[in-house]
Amino acid sequence: MSPAFSTNLNATPLYVLTPDSLPRTLEALDGPARRWVERAGFAAKLGEVALIPDMQGNIQAVLAGWGDAKARGRGRFHMATIAAKLPEGDYRFADGLNAAERAEAALAWLLAAYRFERYKAQGAMTARLVAPVGIDTARIEVQARAAYLTRDLINTPASDMTPAALEEAIRDLATRHKAKISSIVGDALLKENLPMIHAVGRAAATPPRLVDMIWGDEAHPKITLVGKGVCFDTGGLNLKPGASMGLMKKDMGGSATAIGLAQMIMELNLPVRLRLLVPAVENSVSANSFRPQDILTSRKGLTVEINNTDAEGRLVLADALALADEEEPDLMLCMATLTGAARVALGPDMPPFFTDDDAFAAHISAASTAQADPLWRMPFHNPYDPLIEPGIADLDNSPSGGMAGSITAALFLRRFVEHAKVFAHFDLYGWVPAALPARPKGGEMQGARAMLAAIEAYLE
Ligand code: BES
Ligand code: MN
Ligand code: ZN
Repeated sequence: MSPAFSTNLNATPLYVLTPDSLPRTLEALDGPARRWVERAGFAAKLGEVALIPDMQGNIQAVLAGWGDAKARGRGRFHMATIAAKLPEGDYRFADGLNAAERAEAALAWLLAAYRFERYKAQGAMTARLVAPVGIDTARIEVQARAAYLTRDLINTPASDMTPAALEEAIRDLATRHKAKISSIVGDALLKENLPMIHAVGRAAATPPRLVDMIWGDEAHPKITLVGKGVCFDTGGLNLKPGASMGLMKKDMGGSATAIGLAQMIMELNLPVRLRLLVPAVENSVSANSFRPQDILTSRKGLTVEINNTDAEGRLVLADALALADEEEPDLMLCMATLTGAARVALGPDMPPFFTDDDAFAAHISAASTAQADPLWRMPFHNPYDPLIEPGIADLDNSPSGGMAGSITAALFLRRFVEHAKVFAHFDLYGWVPAALPARPKGGEMQGARAMLAAIEAYLE
């Protein structure tokens, strides 16, 4: 399934109205139409819809309620609510929205049409939108296509989204864009000095791997994306309780988001040398599982005491980040469904990000607002660095007490990045727990549209 705008030249006009602009519009309507709207009780409340018939009984126009600023401020992508109420057909924005609102509404429309249909047909959204004028509709399709891909990858359960299947998805992407791709699989991880990726993934039926994709002109700024690809997280020997394990097919959401972002960067042909690194593993239970109190020597040489096998994401990311850091990228972005603590702090809709670069943080924050893609800065709080030092090894993967869990996880990752000029880490949820406008329940691409805009601002 691929998102696209309609090209129907005879689409039904859709007028977006606020309670303030409604009276003027009513005056412009002919008598029967005006009475129809009034009798129907249409008040331009947010999400309200009134269909205006012509004398033959066809729909000649649609009035859509846009509410007031306060109502709109309680969410985003409100056009999706309107689109879902429309009968089958093609529609065009006629009036009532400025360019920025049209862009957000158009994206909302495409995002709302997503269905996860790998295992069961879900019934398509029957209202289609004609590409609105005065906005970059090709870019909006690029963004929606990436969101569809990321959602599909996350929604696919571990029975089909094995580390091998995740690698295959990246290979597909590389083929489509003539990117170079390689992978280091199974025991080869030991030979290539990626011991923590191996330790976390070795207990699973499908061998662990590091997938490495490279695209673009070597002379351009080096941008590296690293995404957590834990295809299922049982917790390992520190087994998760059932309720916590229930959602853990989404633990490759960081990599799915990095894949979506990589696809956008390549489709838009950004002037960058892009690298995508995905440690793809399953954190499983077997006789050869890594154990609590094991001490692993990482690629970087730092030793890590395992105090909880469920803090596996930072381990596989650490080796991938250390490898990525060796070529001194200009910008390195890490994304991961890393901690439950990030959800306790900011909830499922507002992922935190961490960076020491104030200028890049400002780009991210501005882009997050402009792109309707929430992200919130949290600190690499240096005084908490001692919390991740157990004494018996260089690092502790799971500090006791669990205070500031999202920060200590981020500080852990930062230890493996020395040479990248700018480093930022995003602790994503990757999931919509209950349906919202343009966001069906299930996997979600969080932060990637904001990251794309921030990368573009950074390149300027
Ligand atoms: N994948 C989980 C984090 C997670 C849990 C993200 C629930 C989103 C929703 C991660 O591997 C994990 O288990 N983290 C532990 C770390 C702890 C053991 C230090 C956590 O957050 O509880
Ligand atoms: Mn875990
Ligand atoms: Zn995990």
